[in-house]
Amino acid sequence: MSSKTPVGILGATGIVGQRFVQMLEHHPWFEVVWLAASDRSEGRAYGEAARWRMKTPVPARVAEMQVSLARPEGAPKIIFAALDAAIASELEPRFAEAGCAVVSNSSALRMQNDVPLVIPEVNSAHIELLECQTWRKKSGGFVVTNPNCSAIGLVLALAPLQEHFGIETVMAVTMQAVSGAGYPGVASLDILGNVIPYIAKEEEKMEEETLKLLGHMNGSKVIPAAFRVSTQCNRVSVEDGHTESVSVKLKKKATPEEITAAWNDFRGEPQERKLPSAPEQPIRYIGSADRPQPRFDVDCGKGMTTSVGRLRPCGVLDWKFTVLSHNTIRGAAGAALLNAELLKARGYLD
Ligand SMILES: NC(=O)c1ccc[n+]([C@@H]2O[C@H](COP(=O)([O-])OP(=O)(O)OC[C@H]3O[C@@H](n4cnc5c(N)ncnc54)[C@H](OP(=O)(O)O)[C@@H]3O)[C@@H](O)[C@H]2O)c1
Repeated sequence: MSSKTPVGILGATGIVGQRFVQMLEHHPWFEVVWLAASDRSEGRAYGEAARWRMKTPVPARVAEMQVSLARPEGAPKIIFAALDAAIASELEPRFAEAGCAVVSNSSALRMQNDVPLVIPEVNSAHIELLECQTWRKKSGGFVVTNPNCSAIGLVLALAPLQEHFGIETVMAVTMQAVSGAGYPGVASLDILGNVIPYIAKEEEKMEEETLKLLGHMNGSKVIPAAFRVSTQCNRVSVEDGHTESVSVKLKKKATPEEITAAWNDFRGEPQERKLPSAPEQPIRYIGSADRPQPRFDVDCGKGMTTSVGRLRPCGVLDWKFTVLSHNTIRGAAGAALLNAELLKARGYLD
């Protein structure tokens, strides 16, 4: 018998679900014992139901597991969820109601007042919101979420600036990878040799989630950060990795050396607790003039480190720079895994 904690994956056959399977293969604390997806996949062996798109082989043990229907009956108590928002809004509450800890990727419940939206290095205190959830009071179940895949890179880069200098205004323009749209995602004829200047609801998510993540706890509420933020989101023909051109106005004057030190020295609870998926360095500043680039930098820190580069003065705000983070690792499965590790380290999964 394994001494690891049994976990399940909802939406296991999709791009984020596959990333969960890959990242959990040798996880020291968690073991996948249950996989669920739509009725298209139910009853089939995972190896057949999932069109595997990871660069490592599908783990043999998981390939043979049968995909279950997405129902809480028979599911383990810890669920990683990677469902479309419309389906998640119906299914995640059902699992929480049945007593499961739902660690979700979806946007469905992220902005709900009693649902923690967490990046463990940035706002681990927000985890306490889950004590306000009715599910928690009734069945012990709860929902914790991680942010949108482009909000996470932006917020990791902003958090040290907010802490040391204060932020007044943020403007960000994204260049987002095709894997961010799931599988099969964007049609090749739409994206090859092209840029699509629209991703449904992405700009709204980036803006509201950024303010919730950088907000502060006041009793049982999160008070959103008060700065102004404007984003523009584009889909580009990159496989993995969301790149963002960011301009900021700070409250206090800062030198470039102070800003790069704030990024490079930034650490949080995952590093203090040495959580298994915590990167040694959550943010690293690259000095080369033409970096970060998705092709060379997206896998830094096993995909969990956000790369920042090209810090220079901005003619309109104070400073501008480029951010890159892995959308299906730091922006999805890795983010949820780190949330689950934080929950376990704090005793919420006992
Ligand atoms: N891709 C990214 O970079 C990224 C990053 C952050 C967050 N997210 C979020 O993560 C979620 C999943 O994204 P994805 O990119 O992995 O999408 P995806 O590749 O389209 O996968 C969707 C998954 O949901 C399952 N599903 C569909 N309808 C269902 C139903 N009625 N009942 C149960 N399961 C159902 C699918 O199963 P079948 O195979 O059986 O159809 C599949 O496993 C979304 O909310 C997305 O916004 C994605």
